[in-house]
Amino acid sequence: MAITYESDGNNIVTLTLDLPGKSMNVINEALGEAVAGVVDQLEAHADLKGVIVTSAKDSFVAGADIDMLFKLKTPQEAFDSIERFKSLLRRIEKLGKPVVAAVNGTALGGGLEIALACHHRVALNNPKAKLGLPEVKLGLLPAGGGVTRLVRLLGLQNAFPYLVEGKEMTPAEAKAAGIVDELADTREEMMAKAVAWIEANPKAVAPWDVKGFKIPGGAPTHPSLAPVLAIAPAMLRKKTYRNYPAAEAIINTAVEGAMTDFDTASRIESRYFAGLATGQVAKNMISAFWTQLNSIKGGTSRPDVPKTETKKVGVLGAGMMGHGIAYVSAMSGMEVVLKDVNQAAADAGRAKCEALLKKRVSRGKMAQDKMDEILGRITATESAEDLKGCDLIIEAVFEDRDLKAKVTAEAEAQLTEDAIFGSNTSTLPITGLAAASKRPANFVGVHFFSPVDKMPLVEIIRGKETSDTALAKAFDYVLKIKKTPIVVNDSRGFYTSRVFSTYVQEGQALLAEGQHPRAIESAGLQAGMPVGPLALSDEVSLGLMKHIHDQTKKDFEAEGKTLPEHPSWVVMDTMVNLGRKGKAAGAGFYEYPKDGSKKYLWSGLSQHFAPAAAHLPQQELVDRMLYVQAIETVRCMEEGVFTSVADGNIGSIFGWGFAPYAGGTLQFINHVGLDKFIARADELAAKYGDRFQPPKMLRDMAAEGKNFVAA
Ligand code: NAI
Repeated sequence: MAITYESDGNNIVTLTLDLPGKSMNVINEALGEAVAGVVDQLEAHADLKGVIVTSAKDSFVAGADIDMLFKLKTPQEAFDSIERFKSLLRRIEKLGKPVVAAVNGTALGGGLEIALACHHRVALNNPKAKLGLPEVKLGLLPAGGGVTRLVRLLGLQNAFPYLVEGKEMTPAEAKAAGIVDELADTREEMMAKAVAWIEANPKAVAPWDVKGFKIPGGAPTHPSLAPVLAIAPAMLRKKTYRNYPAAEAIINTAVEGAMTDFDTASRIESRYFAGLATGQVAKNMISAFWTQLNSIKGGTSRPDVPKTETKKVGVLGAGMMGHGIAYVSAMSGMEVVLKDVNQAAADAGRAKCEALLKKRVSRGKMAQDKMDEILGRITATESAEDLKGCDLIIEAVFEDRDLKAKVTAEAEAQLTEDAIFGSNTSTLPITGLAAASKRPANFVGVHFFSPVDKMPLVEIIRGKETSDTALAKAFDYVLKIKKTPIVVNDSRGFYTSRVFSTYVQEGQALLAEGQHPRAIESAGLQAGMPVGPLALSDEVSLGLMKHIHDQTKKDFEAEGKTLPEHPSWVVMDTMVNLGRKGKAAGAGFYEYPKDGSKKYLWSGLSQHFAPAAAHLPQQELVDRMLYVQAIETVRCMEEGVFTSVADGNIGSIFGWGFAPYAGGTLQFINHVGLDKFIARADELAAKYGDRFQPPKMLRDMAAEGKNFVAA
């Protein structure tokens, strides 16, 4: 039974949601059927006094079964299915008896919608529980009455952050926002409060079912709201560039719904949902952020060897990356030895960890004793001997082969045979670095992104001799620090840096052709990238790009090959020669005013890169930036740099922010359609060069009618 129906001697019925065989309640067909059953039962219950809805799991309800949503094919099917579910909630709301949600834990999406359909909400005050309507993050909208009820509960403006951004709350925050009515410290107290409310409110009705109900803050036509709502779509487009239809649909649903009665509003919500749920963007986002992410975490790319647990990590180098690695490791319960060349440098790294922890404490996200405990796990040292007992080392010393060889030997002298050595190198091939190790099978690449405490991805690199055990150890460690691991084979730039660089290079190539820098930057944002290619070049530093370029060129020559020319080189060289190496240098494509005011594009660009006589259509710029990344990703897959579609897609979104609405670089090709993609890529190749040439693998897949499907 997915829901137990228990009536006490007083005719107060407790409905306990408890989906069999699952650790959490999700709204699926079984639960839907069970709800239908209990609604019939409640309506037939003579002398019913009131109802309490709660859950037998640790959480209340985690949300809708996303796999079920993903399978919705036609808008009609989506509309019918959501209407069926919400009509049940509406019947509960209109029972004529008080209904209380006893929210014992996390209530997300459909879970919170169930609670909102109740007349009163008592939540267990657990700061780890999350409440919210995160549908927008999967390209959907809360259509189980979520938009309609939250707007009526909070008013349009107050409801927007929860609906349009999917902002989540702790129970205490939900209480402050007016979404939860009461908090309780224990389950018993929560249930007692629910009963007390039922006793005190025998004839409860939802506020919106009371005659004369007015939405708090006023209707959309209210003079204080109308001007704000008039510009809301424009403000949104400025942020989303029309790439995220869900956010727009939510605003429309909320505003249109607020102009009419509850039941009509509820139907408007279902209609917008039907369009979104069967649209391409929701499919892309669900596939990436749900299906593929789960497949990665489930270990699709992990060798099939027993699970490992890292207990003590040695971090070599307490600089920008090293302190971040120490911080995330200690946060996840590991002992950390943070080593640098001298005690002062090591202490400075530990102090940066302390600053990160302090920030959490000051924001109320962590208790002081927890901070002390975590910081207590980090030992700063200058002595390699302190590395004794570490089962995993991650080196983050300067990007220098000889230095890395030296610290490898130094650390290995202190370690047992089975300890694993990870390198956070961003450019040096792992196989080469492993040559300095006595145990190259235990050597693996563990490539973090900056800033380590914020970036969700870690690229794990398998060198020629890396063993399955070493790879699995790195993989399990990355999951333990709550980041997402992708697995790639050793090669130049690995996967993420290699494809990412095609984006910034394309921006520079456009500048070399005389396209307007503002148009180039806008095209990047319109494509769905978080930052324009020129701003990004400044962040990375043109000096560093030039350094990597020169090294790559040398490596090619050493192998008797020539590095293919790229039209961006002239831009990179010019900027470096002008001393405009980027943000850290205080000048790059942008000017960085010394008074800290906002950066702006350098006016001298037009003198060095003569404006073209004709501007390209903006879509051409957008396409070039997206296609070049997608094509390079296919090349990586063709060359075996990575093997799993999920690694390719998630790596692109989490690694360098590739258009999330498109679901990643490979899903973008599915999104366009392989045949159409190839035709357009051929066109671009004819105009701009071989970098747009569709790889053979892509043509073969198209010929066989395949697309990129995650395992
Ligand atoms: P950093 O310059 O901030 O830190 C390097 C640290 O290593 C310094 O504190 C230095 O004193 C220490 N060090 C030097 N010799 C040492 C030795 N013998 N033993 C112990 N510590 C020693 O450099 P950053 O940016 O943290 O980079 C470190 C590594 O991470 C490099 O390999 C870099 O390529 C890689 N990386 C950097 C990223 C970034 O965005 N900065 C991103 C991904 C990887």
